[in-house]
Amino acid sequence: MSETPAPNPFPASSSTPVSSPNRVAAVVVLAAGGGTRMKSSRSKLLHEVAGRSMLSYAIDAAAELEPEHLVVVVGNKREQVEQHLGDIAPHVRTVVQAEQRGTGHAVMCGLADLGELSGDIVVTYADVPMLTNETLADLVASHRSQSDAVTVLTARVPDPTGYGRIIRDDEAGVAGIVEHKDASEDQLAICEINSGIYAFDAAALRSGLSQITDDNAQGEYYLTDVLGVARRDGGRVGAWEVSDLWQTKGVNDRTQLCEMNAEMNRRVLEKWMGDGVSIQDPASTWIHDSVSLAEDVTLLAGTHLEGATTIGAGATIGPDTTLTDSEVGAGASVVRSQVSLAVIGPGATVGPFSYLRPGTQLGEGGKIGAFVETKNARIGAGAKVPHLTYAGDAVIGEGANIGAGTIFANYDGLSKATARVGAHSFIGSDSVLVAPVDVADGAYVAAGSAITGDVEAGQLAVARGRQRNVDGWVARKRPGSKTAAAAEAAGARSAEERPAPPTSDQQ
Ligand code: UD1
Ligand code: CA
Repeated sequence: MSETPAPNPFPASSSTPVSSPNRVAAVVVLAAGGGTRMKSSRSKLLHEVAGRSMLSYAIDAAAELEPEHLVVVVGNKREQVEQHLGDIAPHVRTVVQAEQRGTGHAVMCGLADLGELSGDIVVTYADVPMLTNETLADLVASHRSQSDAVTVLTARVPDPTGYGRIIRDDEAGVAGIVEHKDASEDQLAICEINSGIYAFDAAALRSGLSQITDDNAQGEYYLTDVLGVARRDGGRVGAWEVSDLWQTKGVNDRTQLCEMNAEMNRRVLEKWMGDGVSIQDPASTWIHDSVSLAEDVTLLAGTHLEGATTIGAGATIGPDTTLTDSEVGAGASVVRSQVSLAVIGPGATVGPFSYLRPGTQLGEGGKIGAFVETKNARIGAGAKVPHLTYAGDAVIGEGANIGAGTIFANYDGLSKATARVGAHSFIGSDSVLVAPVDVADGAYVAAGSAITGDVEAGQLAVARGRQRNVDGWVARKRPGSKTAAAAEAAGARSAEERPAPPTSDQQ
């Protein structure tokens, strides 16, 4: 990593050959700006679009050009940006621009350590997430085919306010770029704008950067001024106009971030619909860019698919369901549920109102039903956990049936332990399995049991108070009540008509 160099460190000279004629020598991604309009303690570039950082899109698009050097110029909140880059793209080189003295200065910083490059250098921004690598490749191809000194990516927009305007010359080339703040009345009327993304001939860039000054409305070194220098030096400046305006849009505030997410989501949904996915209500369906869906998946309203989620053919998700980093097998259904880091087998059913936490694995044709919470639970093929259960640290064999209200008590306040239920075993409703405990294959647990010891194959475990019926209790303790009258009408026996109960009747 280098410190910010003094402006204009480049001698205007010479060249060394590039190894591969089709590769670009470098991509410089500008990422030092303040992003103050986001009003965020987090770097603007780490804010997410369709589930990943804006910066990650810029890195991916740049990396696809296979540059010999991929440099990110950092400055504001650079610790956060560098840490994030370390996570997502450790091969990328970062250079610090300590003080933001303009886009031209930022590129000077980015190139300072790279020596004398030859070939093409591409400059992009880190906050333009929709820009595709195809567009960058088209830009470079146009740049090369016209033998341009500089080729700028442009767009014709309905409202060019704030952007640099493209001044065209007679031969469809570019005479220069005028910043909004420096533009005349006539120039302000131009609606072709500078996206800020360019392909430069390395020597022309070096020469241009050595000649620009900060003598302008903002007192900055404008990268755009390199275009004028290139023309004066006899080079051609070309433009590559992109028709998809979103590809040039930056994100500066939360409103633009929201708009960017909406458009990205719209495109992601459109792609999946094209690939055979039914989406009931696009307005309430959000799918991260990292998700993968098979044919004939149906997504009902209010579905959110996040992270590394994959859904198998013919599965139905929703309504009102969020799946994060989870896998759903073919033909499964997940209804009104929250699911994270879980695997749901083919043909399995989940919901409504289930909460599957990390480490849940539901086997083929299994069921997790209403008001069930699972965590680190392996549930075998065809096993059922249909109602009102907590299953934490549970191993449930195939075909087992877990009765309503069963609790896998996995935590004693100090440590967690696992409870096992064997294949085709049956846990009666409202039981507690106090882990560690093992119910073998083919065993039964009676309803309402608190199981603290292992149950062997073929056994029935009953672990609760034995039932006792007290004759005549209602007549004696609730005389004159409607209950007593009903008891009498139903022919209730009095205590005297039977032998006395073995204990007192104080119940
Ligand atoms: C720049 C262009 C303008 C273009 C617009 C497109 C210049 C002089 N103007 O204007 O023609 O229409 O982009 O969005 O280039 N950055 C740094 N260091 C700096 C300054 C900027 O890294 O010292 C980075 C920012 O983080 C940002 C990008 O460069 O990603 C653009 O900077 P910004 O200040 O937004 O440029 P604009 O004035 O909008
Ligand atoms: Ca900007």
